[in-house]
Amino acid sequence: MTTPSAVIVDAAAYAQAVEEAVGAAAAYYAGGTSPLDDDAYDRLVRGIADWEDGHPGEVLPDSPTGKVAGGAVEGDVPHTVPMLSLDNVFSAEEFTAWTASLARRVGHEVTRFSVGPKLDGLAIAARYQEGRLTRLITRGDGTAGEDVSHAIGTVEGLPERLAEPVTVEVRGEVLMTTAQFEHANEVRTGHGGQPFANPRNAAAGTLRAKDRVYTVPMTFFGYGLLPLPDTDPELAERLTASAHSDLMALAAGLGAGTSAATAVPDIVAETVEQVLDRVREIAAVRAELPFGIDGIVIKADLAADQQTAGNGTRAPRWAIAYKLPAVEKITRLTEVEWNVGRTGIIAPRAVLEPVVIDGSTITYATLHNPADITRRDLRLGDHVMVHRAGDVIPRVEAPVAHLRTGDEQPIVFPEQCPRCGSDIDTSEERWRCAQGRNCHLVASLAYAAGRDQLDIEGLGATRVVQLVDAGLVADLADLFALDREQLLGLDRMGETSTDNLLAGIAKAKEQPLARVLCALGVRGTGRSMSRRIARHFATMDHIRAADTDAMQQVDGVGTEKARMIVAELTELAPLIDKLTAAGVNMTEPGATPPPAPAPDGEGDGTAVPAAVAVAEGPLTGMKVVVTGAMTGPLEKLSRNEMNELVERAGGRSSSSVSARTSLVVAGEGAGAKRAKAEQLGVRLATPDEFAVLVAGFLV
Ligand code: IVH
Repeated sequence: MTTPSAVIVDAAAYAQAVEEAVGAAAAYYAGGTSPLDDDAYDRLVRGIADWEDGHPGEVLPDSPTGKVAGGAVEGDVPHTVPMLSLDNVFSAEEFTAWTASLARRVGHEVTRFSVGPKLDGLAIAARYQEGRLTRLITRGDGTAGEDVSHAIGTVEGLPERLAEPVTVEVRGEVLMTTAQFEHANEVRTGHGGQPFANPRNAAAGTLRAKDRVYTVPMTFFGYGLLPLPDTDPELAERLTASAHSDLMALAAGLGAGTSAATAVPDIVAETVEQVLDRVREIAAVRAELPFGIDGIVIKADLAADQQTAGNGTRAPRWAIAYKLPAVEKITRLTEVEWNVGRTGIIAPRAVLEPVVIDGSTITYATLHNPADITRRDLRLGDHVMVHRAGDVIPRVEAPVAHLRTGDEQPIVFPEQCPRCGSDIDTSEERWRCAQGRNCHLVASLAYAAGRDQLDIEGLGATRVVQLVDAGLVADLADLFALDREQLLGLDRMGETSTDNLLAGIAKAKEQPLARVLCALGVRGTGRSMSRRIARHFATMDHIRAADTDAMQQVDGVGTEKARMIVAELTELAPLIDKLTAAGVNMTEPGATPPPAPAPDGEGDGTAVPAAVAVAEGPLTGMKVVVTGAMTGPLEKLSRNEMNELVERAGGRSSSSVSARTSLVVAGEGAGAKRAKAEQLGVRLATPDEFAVLVAGFLV
């Protein structure tokens, strides 16, 4: 995909475009929110460059095309060598053209490229004197930057001492990982501050804040290693003559953070095709990375090639950024809707002026909860930053406050449940209708009857509405008391449909406990958590007898979640009793209950964690990820059924691939997860191979 250029028609429009781009870049590099999102900025700069091509005599001195980008922040520490920016390409064709021009400059085809992630943070130079970290300097205008040495000790990947007493400068990007960003915003709002809009702003704001009473950690990944004036001449010579890949290995060996420690390490590629393969691989795992990237950086790896290609004033000629589509765009918040979910949670949803992010038109985005709206000080009519990566639900990050006109209106919170008019329980951050799951009975019953829960054929949402409207069903257990006459009395219910529905309901009574539990819609649990709880406790009685400590023995259940699940089960007790009385199965086949805790007065008083009930099978001890469409004997299985199969065969199912994954079952159309498995060297199986492996466990 190529980002089209802005069209500039005359000198006045050109001057205005330059002014707009300079302002946006200044805000960006100062860590504020630019009034333009990345795509809009790139388009504008391309338009400026197009116009300058046709009017070389009229180029303005501060044009963003002719100097170090974002040179607005004045600093007082000169850089020994300018900190350059990078030129961009947006497609395979543009990249190929760039390699051709590189080959012309170098005098031969380049056959060693270093390819790695373009980290979305802030450039920083870290000076080490005899192995000790003495100074941190921002890029500033590229020739001099701000001294931010106060951040020493708070940046992972920039140790205060290197493994060897060398004098060097490590250059790289400071950023916040997703977890660091969330932590930073918690701490900041806890101190009464406004939350940061995104990890990049958070890193910028944190790095430049001198007198904070609290510190929050950040992360550094190096992409350059160079000598300082007082570096030992032999080492200086070695650094200047080394390939980029060797420099990065050296930096990592000294203890600095580099991309080698991430899921997307820099690699060396020998051909354009290999580079493009790596671009695709990195793009495929982008949404799952724990830090933001906005592209891929490709560099001529060998020092000799770099030196022959040389540097421009703004960017080196031996490196290029292959930009990925922006995952953040600015648009307007026009309305906030309040929707009641099946458990009674009242969730705000942002209605947006449609905006295309990475190829999809986004009209709605999640807003988390009312407290979050207040914390972010969002208003109707605001320009907001919207984030969407991969399949993740788009979310509103923050208002772009300096684009306010004064016409923005406060967001009105509901005082009564928007669905049934009952009071609202506002005691937790997520508001809930006082009627709880009874408020949206139709949604909760339709969910319970769904394919991955009780799997009751013929009981779709329309039929549920009919049953509820006719007063035949007031909770899930009522389904099991329905009789033939009642059903025949409904519109469009003939004998066959009635008998089929009754058979479906009868069959649902035999579902394993995991599915019954899931059908109950316990807040804080979904399909996979319900399976883990059911396997762990084996019977509903054991689940109900569990206190928060016992609940925490279940894999993936922390204190908060345990508290919520136990409270939910108490709330659901009458319904569970009614379901048990109706004959619904309350045991998990193949699971054994955990041993009872030692009675008081026995044992040595130390808590013994309950044994985790794990099935024995060909996948025992394995963490398995299923991705893509299943074929062959597994074709009809839903993702949930595949996960159930994995667990019956002794494995643990997971949705994300990591170094700890044992096996990835990759069906048709598998993309990012397969790429990640290949890259991490995780074992892959086709659906057919997997079917053979678990043949004895298919039902
Ligand atoms: S190399 C002389 N490698 O992107 C070459 N830069 O938009 C300088 N960046 O100024 C940069 N990840 O702050 C390089 N792997 C990477 C990078 C990277 C992020 C930043 C860097 C640069 C900016 C250009």
